[in-house]
Amino acid sequence: MPAGSILINSVEVLPMVASESCSRDAGVREHTLQANTLEFQRHFGAAAFSLRHSLAENPLFSLEAMEDAAASWTKLGNTDRFVVSGGQTRTDAKFSEMVDKDRICSAIRALPHSCSYVKISNINALDANYERVMQQALLDVERLLGQPIVPRITWAQMTVFLSSPNIVTPYHIDHEANFLCQIAGEKDVWLFDPNDRELLPDPEIERFYLGDLNGAQYREHLQGRGKHFRLVPGIAVHHPPLAPHWVKNGPNVSISASINFCMRELDRRAHIYQVNALLRRMGLHPSPPGRSVTGDTVKAGGMKLLGSSRPKNYRDAVFSGLDRLRAPYKLTRKLLQRSAR
Ligand SMILES: [Fe+2]
Repeated sequence: MPAGSILINSVEVLPMVASESCSRDAGVREHTLQANTLEFQRHFGAAAFSLRHSLAENPLFSLEAMEDAAASWTKLGNTDRFVVSGGQTRTDAKFSEMVDKDRICSAIRALPHSCSYVKISNINALDANYERVMQQALLDVERLLGQPIVPRITWAQMTVFLSSPNIVTPYHIDHEANFLCQIAGEKDVWLFDPNDRELLPDPEIERFYLGDLNGAQYREHLQGRGKHFRLVPGIAVHHPPLAPHWVKNGPNVSISASINFCMRELDRRAHIYQVNALLRRMGLHPSPPGRSVTGDTVKAGGMKLLGSSRPKNYRDAVFSGLDRLRAPYKLTRKLLQRSAR
């Protein structure tokens, strides 16, 4: 969320483009992601690992380019792509504690001396050059994995984070697979095993999939289980889906880009967790995903029937079934509230 994706957009992913045509366009290098193939294949989706990327050399990601983009997009009224927030300096802080500010461009200029961050979500949907870079990265993932992955992707986006010195991104989990690419400045990232259920119990994942961004609880006594990555320009780190993480910015302004994507199997697991969350609220003790083929099939199938068959955004891919299930309850509650006035 991303790292930590707070803002959910409703813009369709642009059509995939071939790598040959990408390489002729502005801002696109031959390969966006470079890694040891064996390590990539062994760890992708399961464990955190570092790799190299080419975005740090790309003028599309300079602070000046971000400021220009923010200025022109603000003029066009596309301010829903931005989150400007006061930063945190605590690992156990909550995203809801962050206070929105306005004036995006001045916020970017003030980053070196303020305590804030600017997040530009889904930047690829706003400018074709960023879209091409993201599509090239997805093709790189396929090349490194040695197998098709793009057909399994239900939603992908690129998010750019600009942050003040020493800002902490609080501990959290994300649904998507992610590559966090450091472009300028430095960051310390701590990533934890997504399969450690002492660290990340199933009920916390269920709360996250009901929409609680603070679902995962930081446990200071388990900090030693985290894997530390020092990100400098040109270095990226892979975040496996649901891997808890927190980030501390270095002493300078940081620019980083997150290339993150949902996949069919991840969405399916999310839907099982959502059904489990509802069952737990009814006082039951549901089996986590992976324990029962039949149970998983029934739970995922139910949510799939309710959900969007062609997701147009992250919300569609992960929450559309739950949203439809909750709609009558929300309507009833609204009507009751109105009649009580
Ligand atoms: Fe994140």
